Amino acid sequence: MNSTAPLFAVYGATGHTGRLVAAELLSRGQAVLLAGRNADALHALAGELGSPGLVRTQTAPLDDPAALRRLAEAADVLIHCAGPFTTTGMPVATAAAEAGTHYIDHAIEPHPVKNLFETLQATAGRTGAVMIPQMSFYGGLGDLLAAAVAEGMPDADRVTVGYSVTGWRMTKGARNTAELLIGEIDRVSFTDGALRVGPVEIRNAVFPFPPPVGPRSVIAPFPSGEIVTIPRHIPARTVEAQLTSSTFEEEQIFSSEDATPEERARTDFMVAVQVVGASGGGRNGHVRGHDIWRVGALASVVAATLLTSGEGPSKTGVLSAAEAFPAADFLRRLEALEAFTLHLPG
Ligand SMILES: NC(=O)c1ccc[n+]([C@@H]2O[C@H](COP(=O)([O-])OP(=O)(O)OC[C@H]3O[C@@H](n4cnc5c(N)ncnc54)[C@H](OP(=O)(O)O)[C@@H]3O)[C@@H](O)[C@H]2O)c1
Repeated sequence: MNSTAPLFAVYGATGHTGRLVAAELLSRGQAVLLAGRNADALHALAGELGSPGLVRTQTAPLDDPAALRRLAEAADVLIHCAGPFTTTGMPVATAAAEAGTHYIDHAIEPHPVKNLFETLQATAGRTGAVMIPQMSFYGGLGDLLAAAVAEGMPDADRVTVGYSVTGWRMTKGARNTAELLIGEIDRVSFTDGALRVGPVEIRNAVFPFPPPVGPRSVIAPFPSGEIVTIPRHIPARTVEAQLTSSTFEEEQIFSSEDATPEERARTDFMVAVQVVGASGGGRNGHVRGHDIWRVGALASVVAATLLTSGEGPSKTGVLSAAEAFPAADFLRRLEALEAFTLHLPG
């Protein structure tokens, strides 16, 4: 590892998310190692991004553990942006855990998030790596918002995270991930205080988004990884994520592989959390903004730079976003970058 300026490896740098992450790091004057499977595409990207003194490339295919290990050893933090994580997640995460390199990813799928906690906790604890899965729009934001809303609430019993998203133009990686998730039979759920894997009934429900969105029909449950992480820090009996049904009814969602970055940026979102207490009552909070891709990239970059500036968690191992950082503070950092407006209970 570099003993002076930190080096941030971005795996899957040639994708939409990877490019946003690399560009954001460079705009902060950070040194970036563009990584992935395609050497020519990585070199082309390095030229495109400019900043020759700050950018290097390194090729490491998923089926080459030694190359992945060399990549992890070269960096201070590895930000994994290549998906679907169901297939790409474990090889890269294992290399980081074994090298003792901090790791952040953009997974949305619950299974790889669950696998990370179950298989790499001991290794990362031993090597000193901090590993934060789904530090992105879906998953990480729900985890942080739930923690901020439930803070100081001793009897939190039911946590529901509602996503309202319009204008989502999926990339190839997002579409491949969605196809996997839509067809998944054995799903992860958290009910009656336990994480379960098996078929679930997919309902049409209504989530009470506050104005200006208002109550909306939602797909419930929506398979997003915070169902794995929220129970780690909130002693709830039920945790569920939901997504507006209209999101998947929009024509452009599955036909936008060739959209420009500017077109992709035209999303509107609200993420709202409702925490209900065991004896009734409860709390609500939400964030509202535009450009879900930028929010995801910013979340991972803010987390990565905190890890290298000595403002990371005091413990190592696999941690959720809200276990790694004080949730309300982290959300306020993102609000200060104009990622969204934040509304927490008074
Ligand atoms: N949780 C969230 O809110 C959130 C937010 C953003 C993204 N994501 C996830 O992040 C992933 C990437 O999204 P994206 O929009 O950036 O997709 P994208 O633009 O299609 O880019 C996909 C990237 O993954 C790489 N890749 C795919 N399969 C690979 C493999 N087998 N080995 C090595 N590299 C591989 C691609 O490399 P090549 O150029 O070599 O093909 C490319 O760099 C998706 O899984 C998406 O669901 C999640």
